[in-house]
Amino acid sequence: RSFNRVPSLVRDLSSVTAEDVTHFSKILSPSCVLSTFPPSSAPVEELANFNSDWMGKYKGASTTVLKPKNTQQVSEILKWCWERRIGVVPQGGNTGLVGGSVPVNDEVILSLRNMNNIRSFDPVSGILVTDAGCILESLTEFIAPHRHIMPLDLGAKGSCMIGGNVSTNAGGLRLLRYGSLHGSVLGLEVVLPDGTVMNQLSTLRKDNTGYDLKQLFIGAEGTLGVVTGVSILTAAAPEASNNVILVLRDFKDVLPLYQIVKQHLSEILSAFEFIDKGAYDLATKHGQGRALDDSDVEGAGCFVLVETSGGKREHDEEKLNELLESLLSADKPLITTGVLSQSPAQFSSLWALREGVTEAVSKEGKAYKYDISIPLSAFKDVVDATREHLRKKGLMRDDAVKHVIGYGHVGDGNLHLNVVAQTYSKEIESALEPFVYELVESYRGSISAEHGVGVMKTHALHYTKDAVSIEWMKKIKELFDERGIMNPGKVIV
Ligand code: FAD
Ligand code: MLT
Ligand code: ZN
Repeated sequence: RSFNRVPSLVRDLSSVTAEDVTHFSKILSPSCVLSTFPPSSAPVEELANFNSDWMGKYKGASTTVLKPKNTQQVSEILKWCWERRIGVVPQGGNTGLVGGSVPVNDEVILSLRNMNNIRSFDPVSGILVTDAGCILESLTEFIAPHRHIMPLDLGAKGSCMIGGNVSTNAGGLRLLRYGSLHGSVLGLEVVLPDGTVMNQLSTLRKDNTGYDLKQLFIGAEGTLGVVTGVSILTAAAPEASNNVILVLRDFKDVLPLYQIVKQHLSEILSAFEFIDKGAYDLATKHGQGRALDDSDVEGAGCFVLVETSGGKREHDEEKLNELLESLLSADKPLITTGVLSQSPAQFSSLWALREGVTEAVSKEGKAYKYDISIPLSAFKDVVDATREHLRKKGLMRDDAVKHVIGYGHVGDGNLHLNVVAQTYSKEIESALEPFVYELVESYRGSISAEHGVGVMKTHALHYTKDAVSIEWMKKIKELFDERGIMNPGKVIV
């Protein structure tokens, strides 16, 4: 395939030296420089967490972590790295699932964790302006008394940071209701690779003054600059939220179920999430959420979590109960049973069954995670085809591959196909790739629905993007970062 008309973006980069660390120590206070070089002289082990991703799959060899406290410091660091041609990896909560937040070699890690001030919140418009290093859950807690919620929510909320969310264009559990960050982010402050500060921190709902540059940084995964500030439209908090787990015999019933649920609940539907039986078993095995009674799970093929968020509890409860009754009393019921939450604790516990799958998978083994967009009707076929393919290759023997499971965001057409193995191995990886990517391509789907490309999928972009698009992506990268210092080896190479 001829997607390489623009030359490779890989550049020769310099390693950090003691002289660089001395310079960084003039920009930042001593506690904000962690380096194996003097004056910091930290042992390598102290850098281990920064050099390893959440899954323990990707490892970097950075000698130096910098933790600036403000935009000016980020700018001075980048100016120096630009001059010296040192690679820089921006890092938020380090919860990314495609290896984007750890170095491929010995790049400097620029951690945003000390940039955690909320700059302003307007309870009338709901517009929040914040430093990029604020943790998503802290922002949720901050705006809760003002009766607002963040327009996104994800299982990593306790660690991931808003700058990381924006940089990965994270989707998550509320996208069905509040849409993507491309819509809710109103402005960004970005430090460009040469240290220039681009102030697009607008708080305007409408601004049609030419190219919308901030959109380029949403989902750029740190390859075009460092996001230091975010202006985001939050949503009015719903008065009431309810949820129910629906148990289905067969995946084929998920689609008609989705149609009925959408019609019946209309404006109060806020999530429609799915987990297959394998994912459910792992979640309960590893203590995530409330296990259903054995009688409820009998004959179950998969589960759907439906959430409602609306203005009146009684009204919403009534609608949900009516839905459940009509589903159960249908001539050919699509569900075998439904478990409604009866208290805030049960509400969280039902959610934990879905949100906790990621954690459960990582406790069970080493996960190959394929986060794909495909037609809803193909969700089960893709999981089954992958399992069968691995079986034929003999990889399901002796538990080399322990589970092949599916879960995800039905409303967004986003399946999480997870292959849980005992260890990461070349043999399993080459059985899975390009097999999975070719399958996705055959459905004209996306090889990355919401997690991004990171280092994991740079070689596979062409399964989703055509040659012309890849060429223009490279040109854009070159335009912002001709020296190739920003997150080298990620997204586009
Ligand atoms: P990091 O992991 O630190 O970084 C991610 C990428 O963004 C890297 O390429 C990094 O270089 C870049 N980056 C980080 N901060 C900046 C910045 N300030 N400026 C420029 N670049 C930056 N993702 C979803 O989309 N939906 C989910 O539902 C979801 N659920 C998850 C559940 C769990 C339990 C876990 C562990 C992960 C989940 N993720 C999900 C993936 C991950 O949490 C998201 O991608 C999240 O947005 C990453 O935020 P972070 O702060 O941890 O970023
Ligand atoms: C999810 O939807 O749970 C997240 O995207 C994380 C994952 O894929 O495991
Ligand atoms: Zn997801």
